[in-house]
Amino acid sequence: MTLREIADVVSGTVHDGGDDVVVKAPAFVDSRKASAGGLFVALPGERVDGHDYVSAAMAGGAAAVLAQRPVGVPAVVVEDGASALGLLARHVIARRAALPGPGMTLIGITGSVGKTTTKDLIAHMLGGRGATVATPGNFNNEIGLPLTVSLIEDDTRFLILEMGARFIGDITYLTEIAPPLIGVVTNIGSAHLGDFGSYENTTKAKGELVEALPTDAEGGLAVLNADDARVLTMRPRTQAAVALSGLSQDADIRASDVALDSRGRAHFTLHTPEGSAPVQLLLTGEHQVANALAAAAVVRHVGLSIAEIAAGLSSATASSRGRLEITDRPDGVTIVNDAYNANPNSTRAALKALIAMASERRKIAVLGGMLGLGDQAEPEHRAIGALAGELGIDIVLTVDGFRVGEDAQWIADGFGTGDEARWIAEGAREAGAQVITTVDNAEARVLLDDLLRGGDVVLLKASQPTGLQPLGEQLAGQSEATGAAH
Ligand SMILES: Nc1ncnc2c1ncn2[C@@H]1O[C@H](COP(=O)(O)OP(=O)(O)OP(=O)(O)O)[C@@H](O)[C@H]1O
Ligand SMILES: [Mg+2]
Repeated sequence: MTLREIADVVSGTVHDGGDDVVVKAPAFVDSRKASAGGLFVALPGERVDGHDYVSAAMAGGAAAVLAQRPVGVPAVVVEDGASALGLLARHVIARRAALPGPGMTLIGITGSVGKTTTKDLIAHMLGGRGATVATPGNFNNEIGLPLTVSLIEDDTRFLILEMGARFIGDITYLTEIAPPLIGVVTNIGSAHLGDFGSYENTTKAKGELVEALPTDAEGGLAVLNADDARVLTMRPRTQAAVALSGLSQDADIRASDVALDSRGRAHFTLHTPEGSAPVQLLLTGEHQVANALAAAAVVRHVGLSIAEIAAGLSSATASSRGRLEITDRPDGVTIVNDAYNANPNSTRAALKALIAMASERRKIAVLGGMLGLGDQAEPEHRAIGALAGELGIDIVLTVDGFRVGEDAQWIADGFGTGDEARWIAEGAREAGAQVITTVDNAEARVLLDDLLRGGDVVLLKASQPTGLQPLGEQLAGQSEATGAAH
């Protein structure tokens, strides 16, 4: 598109002689990840202002800039860069829909946990069917989703979008940019409970996805988790056909005979209305069965056979990092890094995966705070500590983590209190586990280096700002200590 066309779409003005400048590549917001010929979107952030990085983006090959003020290079200037990006993405989808030939199927995924994993499974299975674009990593908000949309090409057949929500109306906004034909709700847990205030509000917010779907006659499909009572309440909120996935007998897409192997990977029998087939997942943790079933329901609607689905599920490997990522060290210690993020559901799943994987080996859980739980924070953290003790984790090592350094901002912003690790430690101690407390990654690293011996299995799990993911990478030998606050 020329800047003139872009300006028309977003109701902006062209500056610095850019009318005929052509944008040929995706939009981006990180000047270090410039796409040659792409559009740099300069957004004002809380800590840094994208407008300060215009020259870096242009040096990286950007064709032009979408900005909130003139920046001295060809640009479209708007009042609000984020909403302009949304308008642009909506236009890109409409333009793709108007092309002759086979259309593009749009799939939206929301829920408290499992979005990224389910998205990766669907992308893996549909990739063989036609050109597929999926949310890279976790780009699931009002910025990341339109950036993902900008990756589509004229021949893209499947667009798979992760849709995150922190507030009522967030998902509706995303579906207005990119209206899905198929919508998946993985589950409703306590992720972002602090923002939503209650499970009712979380359910209301995530259910906006199924409200946005077209009718059954138009091909709309809502994939709902048959094992999650809150998700099931969304059923009357959609005009689309409904496919239930889960372990429940009522599910249309169901698993039976679920068992974990010694690597903590599940195998099961997949049942669909067309028949049954064995599946052996390569992903770790029993919770992956639910994600696999939801993904199966989606690709079945697109036309994959049960044999293709079983083969696809059985060959997918983890494509996003920090999610139960297993490293076997030469000294016989196994590191399980699941510290990409955490909430109570995913932490319970991770602790159970640790038990399944370690069997007779010594089990060590390195745990930090789970943010954004509001007034449920204390009981939820104490319950996680208690569960670790009850499951038979040998050592619980807690890390205060985000209390220190610039990440202390999370406390100032009300996402945590700084007491999270202590609550876990107390819960674990009461349940009989051996507990070690540390203040930061550096202290944890020193203690662990001393403590670990061949045969140990070490799980790392905490919310992202707690910063345990890099500790896990260091322990796994994937990176060196940075000397940063955590
Ligand atoms: N169905 C599930 N039930 C419980 N835990 C899960 C499930 N799926 C994934 N998890 C765990 O939750 C964590 C996050 O998984 P994933 O990245 O797929 O979720 P997400 O919904 O994309 O999260 P985010 O909101 O951070 O984008 C991982 O630690 C994973 O092990
Ligand atoms: Mg995600």
